[in-house]
Amino acid sequence: MNRKIDIDVLLANANKGDRKKTLGLFDLSILGIGAIIGTGILVLTGIVAATDSGPGVVYSFLIAALASGLIGLCYSELTTSIPNSGSAYVYAWASIGQTVAFFAGWTLLGVYITTTATVANGWSGYVHSFFSEFGIDIPRALITSPFNGGIINLPAVLMIFLVTFVLTKGTSESKRLNNFLVVVKIAIILLFVIVGFSDVNRGNWKPFLPFGISGVFAGASTVFFAFLGFDALATSAEEVKNVQKNLPRAIIISLVVSTLMYVVVSLVMTGIIKYDRLNVPEAMSFVLLQKGHNVAAQVISAGAILGIIAVVLAFIYASANIMMSMSRGGFLPKKLSILNKKTGSPNKSLWLIGLIAAICAGLLDIKNLATFANVGSLCVFFLISLMVILLRKQHPNLTRPFKVPFGYTIPILSMIVCAFLLFNLPLSAYLNYAGWLIIGLMMYMLYSVRHVDASQSMEIVDDEELEIDVD
Ligand code: ALA
Repeated sequence: MNRKIDIDVLLANANKGDRKKTLGLFDLSILGIGAIIGTGILVLTGIVAATDSGPGVVYSFLIAALASGLIGLCYSELTTSIPNSGSAYVYAWASIGQTVAFFAGWTLLGVYITTTATVANGWSGYVHSFFSEFGIDIPRALITSPFNGGIINLPAVLMIFLVTFVLTKGTSESKRLNNFLVVVKIAIILLFVIVGFSDVNRGNWKPFLPFGISGVFAGASTVFFAFLGFDALATSAEEVKNVQKNLPRAIIISLVVSTLMYVVVSLVMTGIIKYDRLNVPEAMSFVLLQKGHNVAAQVISAGAILGIIAVVLAFIYASANIMMSMSRGGFLPKKLSILNKKTGSPNKSLWLIGLIAAICAGLLDIKNLATFANVGSLCVFFLISLMVILLRKQHPNLTRPFKVPFGYTIPILSMIVCAFLLFNLPLSAYLNYAGWLIIGLMMYMLYSVRHVDASQSMEIVDDEELEIDVD
């Protein structure tokens, strides 16, 4: 059985307004920038320059930005037509059917959890280098996963639990923290550019493409991770004021701001030091230390420690929204959609996500986590682009406050770009993704098929249930 959900049911529920609408254009753009800029630019830029693209990493970023822009436009059409926190999962339910819907939601859950874990993992590297400057050496076994010869990545685990706790206190609290962290992140990137600019030596840009154009493309598939986050905005649709206008604008604004930052940072970084010496995880502070800017390097490490927390915050929040939405539809147990009476946040979902993400961050290898996130998200983005076309054919009269221009050209281009980037990813990532899908299949067969109910789906928890969850 592969039933679809009636699009009118979705629209009626999206307008019921059980979540507080607290997010405006500014908050949303900040949320987007908070979710996008993080481990990607701080950790991957140097590594990709050294191993894939050379100074041409700037082209890799531009290709990944172009792909994200195309996908972002497709996302915007769907989120504004059906403003619902379930994102890809909900659109698939309406346009293809419940089986694909479940796997789209399941994939998104896996992607957001592994992104959280990857980012927290990268964060530990900066924590380690920051403290070691002060002579405090965190034992290697306690910041390294068992796959890399350690016991557990403890700082990553603790940070995830702390962020989950903040999120259970409600969106307005976490909004304030997020705004502060985004300012810190932008400030350290500007500091890096200003301090490093005078050390740029054009000779370091020669050769610009040491690994040829294929290196640039391979680099683009990896640095695509640096743009993940624009899609997480779509999952906050139910809390956005004037969602039709604000959501697509916020997606575009946050993509443009982060692309500008990535382009400037990668040019300055590869201009200061020859690309082949950049294969270190904390490249931004590393290059400044090489030029004797010790204080600036230390400030950047401190800022990275604070700033990366914003990414974790955005991704745990997005995962909980997807989980809550799938639970409302009966794909996952109903308890997961109970909102806390005081804060309006889905605390049970939040704690469950926090726990799984902490286990992954503490015990798994960062590269496998990151490539899993890339494979999963590109599959979902491919589906998103396809669904723009399907929904236009199936529901030509649906009100579309934002419509991707030029007919089907952009959704088709977006599908081609996703397929191309997928093609460049390693086999191990596909195997891990297959494992996650098999766990999902068991969940679907043992639970979801018996509980999913398109007619009652998206039901909002009643007041009595809300009373239970006062903590
Ligand atoms: N785009 C996010 C980051 O780079 C996931 O950390």
